[in-house]
Parts: sequence; C-alpha cells; structure tokens
Amino acid sequence: MKDYQNLAQKYIINTYPNRQLTLVRGIGANLIDQFGQKYLDLMGNYGVNIFGHNNPKINSALISQIKNLTTLHGSFTSDIRSIASEKLIEKCGNNYSSVYWSNSGAEAIEAALKFAVIASGKKRFIVCRNGYHGKTLGALSATSGEKYKKPFEPLLWEFVQIPFNNPKALESAIDKNTAGFIIEPIQGEGGIFVPDPNYLLKVRKICERKGVLLIIDEIQTGCGRIGQFLASQEVQADIVCLGKGLAGGIPIGATIVNNKISLTLTKGIHSSTFGGNPLALAGVLAVLDLLDGKRLQHVNMMGEYFLTDLKKIKSDFIIDIRGKGLMIGVEVKDKRNEILKLLQKEKILAIPAGENVVRFLPPFIFGKKEIDFTIERFRKVLNDIK
Ligand SMILES: Cc1ncc(COP(=O)(O)O)c(C=O)c1O
Repeated sequence: MKDYQNLAQKYIINTYPNRQLTLVRGIGANLIDQFGQKYLDLMGNYGVNIFGHNNPKINSALISQIKNLTTLHGSFTSDIRSIASEKLIEKCGNNYSSVYWSNSGAEAIEAALKFAVIASGKKRFIVCRNGYHGKTLGALSATSGEKYKKPFEPLLWEFVQIPFNNPKALESAIDKNTAGFIIEPIQGEGGIFVPDPNYLLKVRKICERKGVLLIIDEIQTGCGRIGQFLASQEVQADIVCLGKGLAGGIPIGATIVNNKISLTLTKGIHSSTFGGNPLALAGVLAVLDLLDGKRLQHVNMMGEYFLTDLKKIKSDFIIDIRGKGLMIGVEVKDKRNEILKLLQKEKILAIPAGENVVRFLPPFIFGKKEIDFTIERFRKVLNDIK
C-alpha cells in the first residue's frame, strides 16, 4: 500500500492541519479509512455532507447528469440550471427573486460583496467579531481573526467590526457611507454562537430604517442545518449566501438576491466558467427534493435529542453547550485538540470551532442510535482525559 500520508506531506502545500487519517470511502453516516476502519462522521466535511455519503438519490441524479452534460457556460441555457434555480428561489421564499451560481462559499460571499457595492454605490461594510465568511481576499476582509488577515493587509475597502448579538452596536456603527451589514444567523467557525431569538428581526428593522443592505451568510446554517431551510427564514434579507451541502457534495456557491438588487446588476459584472454547471445543479435539485418538511422535522428532533443528552454529561471540562438543529458546539475549558484526537481514536470524527469548541455537524440522516454512540464515546473521552 502506498504511504498516502507521506505523499500528501511531500506534494500538497502545507496549509491545513493534519488529522493523520486517510479516508477512502463513505457510506451513510460513516467514513472508512484505508485499513477498513469505520468512523462515525460528525464533521461531514465541515457541514457539506448533509445526507451523509453515497446517498442513492443524489448519486443517481449526479450519474445521470454526468452522462448528459457536466459543464455549460452561463451564456447558454441549461435545462437543469433553469429548473434548479426556480426550485431554489421557491424554497428560499420571502421576496428573493434570483440567484448567481458559483463554486464555493467564499465565492458566494465575493459575489454578494460586489453586488452590494453595485446596488448601493458604497464600499463600507459592517461585520461581526468572530464572524467567518471565507478566505479569498474579499471574504477575508469580512472575516474576523487577525491570524488569517495580518499577512495580507491592507485588505479590501472598509470593514468595521461590531460585537455579535448586539443591535445597538449595529445602530451606532452605521453611517452615511455604509453599504451593508454581513451576518451569520448562528456563528459557526467562530465558536457556535446562537443569538437572542429576536436579534435578526431587530437587525432587519435597523437596516431598513437606516437604508443599508442586509447580507445573510447561510453557508453553514442554511440548507436545513438548523431544522428549517434558511436559519433566517423569518427575515427578508437583500442578499443570502448558500454553499456547503446545497449540491449534495459537489462544489457550489449561491448568492440569492431580491429584485431591488437584481435590477442593478448588468452583463459581465461577474462571471465564472464553472459557476452553475449542470453537474452541480443536478446535485442541487436532488438535495432540494430530499429536503422536505419531514427531513427538517427530523433535524429538529435529533438536534433536541443530541443537545439534551449532551447536557446530561457531567464533566469539569465542559463550560457551555450551544447550538440549534444539527449545528452543535461544546465549549471546553482546555485540551480541545486533545479531545478531538481522542474522539478520533474512539472512531468519532468532530471538528474544531473558535479557540476551545468541539463542533458537531452530523448529517441529517443521523438517528438516536448514532447520537447515543456519540454521547457514550464523548463521555468516555472526557473521563479518560482527566
Ligand atoms: C459561514 C461561512 N461562510 C463562508 C464560508 C466559506 O466557505 P468555503 O470554505 O466553501 O469557501 C464558510 C466555511 O466554512 C462558512 O462557514
């Protein structure tokens, strides 16, 4: 057997931490390593694999699209792109009117920023501390975290950081040059922070009254992650960004706008060779079909079950347990990375968030059996680490 770890270390640029695990196959909620060992997948490729691995409906949609047409530039009409776009706009509800397709979350944010500048004529944005929007230069400008940004400064335009979950801070940060406010409904990468229930509604009112655009980053919270299609469903934003699991594991980004924004955008202002390719859009269509009310209800129920049982664990290590639906974080006092390593040894894959949070983003096919197994192993790890 080839030494995949060695090859990776030698030939792949070293920008990622190394989890020391070579995964070769996925089945349902499990991943299989090169030696045939099975791992329960609560990282889902950072929230991408919302229906787990090897879902027959997604597979068959992708395979039949591969046989028809895989890529098609946006200047030509694609049957599957037209249908999937209509379905997505319907699913988003509110007054959303149209979508720009790209290939990743960061690209969806880049498009949102450009569209907001065109629509407002301004280049000043308000963003949240602990916010994460991606690492391309525009998205990075909106992202918090000095360690990511410092080497590249000066970054783009003017981005003003305010505390999350603080409507007053937003109110006072807006000035006459402000184009928009960019926000995650629940902060993911920053540490799984859930705001007060009416926060987004308050934010919407402030943005409306002050005449600034509201841009909601649903790349992690969207596509049913918290038990409804959009976490911000009750709020009408001007721009919403989606990515991660929207195309069933094929790279995707979507920047969805209302009519007011759409009317300001002109030909050539933004484009992407691969954006909206029929293969990815076949994945989108399959995912939108699978994400019905019953599935969303299941996410809600399993989220509640998981959170309730996590809260029963007695450990001095646990500082806080937060989340909604199947987006859950456990803040620990210290040794977070050691906890992740021990979980991996116990065949549970989870990921970090913030400085000291263990993040769980299980697939929506997770049942009580998988949650019970996770709780049992997590409890053991927290005991062992003492
Ligand atoms: C909220 C949010 N926005 C943007 C991104 C960037 O997405 P991508 O890594 O696909 O560029 C992420 C990725 O984790 C995210 O969680």
